[in-house]
Amino acid sequence: MKAARFYDKKDIRIEDIPEPTVEPGTVGIDVAWCGICGTDLHEFMEGPIFIPPCGHPHPISGESAPITMGHEFSGVVYEVGEGVDDIEVGQHVVVEPYIIADDVPTGEGDDYHLSENMNFIGLGGRGGGLSEKIAVKRRWVHPISEDIPLDQAALIEPLAVGYHAFVRSGAKEGDVALVGGGGPIGLMLSSVLKAKGLTVILTELSAARKDKARESGVADHVLDPTEVDLKEEVMKITNDRGVDVAFECSSVNQVLDSLVELTKPAGVVVIVSIWSHPAKISVHSVVMKELDVRGTIGYVNNHKDTIELVEKGLVNLEPFITQRIKLDELISEGFDTLINNNESAVKIIVNPNL
Ligand SMILES: NC(=O)c1ccc[n+]([C@@H]2O[C@H](COP(=O)([O-])OP(=O)(O)OC[C@H]3O[C@@H](n4cnc5c(N)ncnc54)[C@H](O)[C@@H]3O)[C@@H](O)[C@H]2O)c1
Ligand SMILES: [Zn+2]
Repeated sequence: MKAARFYDKKDIRIEDIPEPTVEPGTVGIDVAWCGICGTDLHEFMEGPIFIPPCGHPHPISGESAPITMGHEFSGVVYEVGEGVDDIEVGQHVVVEPYIIADDVPTGEGDDYHLSENMNFIGLGGRGGGLSEKIAVKRRWVHPISEDIPLDQAALIEPLAVGYHAFVRSGAKEGDVALVGGGGPIGLMLSSVLKAKGLTVILTELSAARKDKARESGVADHVLDPTEVDLKEEVMKITNDRGVDVAFECSSVNQVLDSLVELTKPAGVVVIVSIWSHPAKISVHSVVMKELDVRGTIGYVNNHKDTIELVEKGLVNLEPFITQRIKLDELISEGFDTLINNNESAVKIIVNPNL
């Protein structure tokens, strides 16, 4: 079967590899669509980061580069391994793409996402969604209704990132949220916040992404800090109070600065983006306003609620897909557009069977 395999920085190859074996306790999935994530771009440009470099096997998966990429995917079950009796061939599914040690409890209330050596399918090994087929442990496979188109379902993984960030914030209906950065993650998070009854203020620079936020209705106010006085606008919207919660989704220090400045006393600032360098933050503001600054990583038992938002029609993922491509076009159309021309793109999804 065809698969996109990461060898090293700037070296991803589309190759023929053997199909996975559907071992006991796993589910064989025919991949329908797989999204390209900002993390995949980081791996390509600056990596390996999450990917275990060649000769340095990951302690849980035992694998190192080359590894198959892709962690945002949907598909259809084609085979179930021995012992799997609660999922059938033909079921539409998405995957919570974790690689977690077998002895880590993964039930309700267990912080398995923070366990030692946690990594992701499609980065740390165990196959990936940028291939025709994958076998995944039953624990990480989530059935979805056939009412959700499979292309949109590929966006459930980043939506779950937004869902977990919302949970981490402690925000509630009626609160005002400021989301800094309207890339896929900021837009997905905004759609969760809207569905949960918050007022959403989104800041973004790119024209296509600002339009997307407006057209899709996931933000009540879309502000471009190069066009308006952000402080003036936010204070107008919040009657000089400042926002209840803020989410950093850009890895840009000015954005973090503005969130800290515009969050109300005793408010919460959640850092969603991945920072490859230390950030500067006004500790004085954090102290004087008793702000809570929190991180968020991945998801933890959030997929059920996330899928429900989509099934109930409270979140519409369709507007965020800006391009559908073949696996052979991964670098030339996919990565290249997102790296050099993200003005025009939000989420590009790949069909490995085309
Ligand atoms: N915490 C997690 O679990 C998790 C999971 C997935 C991704 N991430 C991270 O989340 C971050 C966002 O992901 P993404 O795919 O949306 O990335 P992205 O780069 O596509 O989006 C960032 C957006 O910020 C905007 N931006 C830049 N400067 C700005 C400014 N001054 N004001 C307003 N907006 C500005 C950019 O125009 C861009 O649209 C990345 O760092 C990614 O690695 C985190
Ligand atoms: Zn991702």
